[in-house]
Amino acid sequence: MKFFIDTADTAEIQDLAPTGMVDGVTTNPSLIAKSGRDFLQVIAEICEIVPGPVSAEVAATDAEGMLREGKRLCEIAPNVAVKVPLTWDGLKACRALADEGRMVNVTLCFTANQALLAAKAGAAFISPFVGRLDDIGLDGLELISDIREIYDNYEFDTEILAASVRHVGHVMECAKIGADVATIPPSTLKKLADHPLTDKGLEAFLKDWAATGQTILKSGA
Ligand code: G3P
Repeated sequence: MKFFIDTADTAEIQDLAPTGMVDGVTTNPSLIAKSGRDFLQVIAEICEIVPGPVSAEVAATDAEGMLREGKRLCEIAPNVAVKVPLTWDGLKACRALADEGRMVNVTLCFTANQALLAAKAGAAFISPFVGRLDDIGLDGLELISDIREIYDNYEFDTEILAASVRHVGHVMECAKIGADVATIPPSTLKKLADHPLTDKGLEAFLKDWAATGQTILKSGA
């Protein structure tokens, strides 16, 4: 499973990149607004830090405008993935951008039928929003499972990019279902390594090791 991180905070990305756990980055207009920074500059900086796909979302709502904005975003760096909403205009723009060999991430997906349309439009990624479905009492993970089944039936190349991931349980369940990617908030990514028994066990190992009075590296090594 690939991990993308869902943020426009370049400091967070700089901090996590050395772990080797950052296979890409997703941003959206809300995350860009939260950063308080210039959109094109932030995307350029992120593309410098992370060689993998970096999603940058268009603001236009008409196909022609999305196409123009998408091409401008692609000029920033070769690893930009143009993010378009799952509307008919977004699907038209996706088809045109994909036909030019550009990476497209179709976002704001909430049904398997929408995901089917995105795959047929040549999307590189589909972003089903798991958490926002859970928020309204539906089962976001069931959507991931339905999309996985449909995409496997037709061997679509579109990658399932599980989005709106709210906790480590979402990451595990998406991995069990077989989502290709999960885009994860930095704080949730960091929690993937956490377990109290790990901490407790390490503390006990270190205490017992200290009692041996030994060192692995001899003095001066
Ligand atoms: O960036 C797309 C998606 O991850 C947004 O998540 O938490 O705002 O529903 P959220």
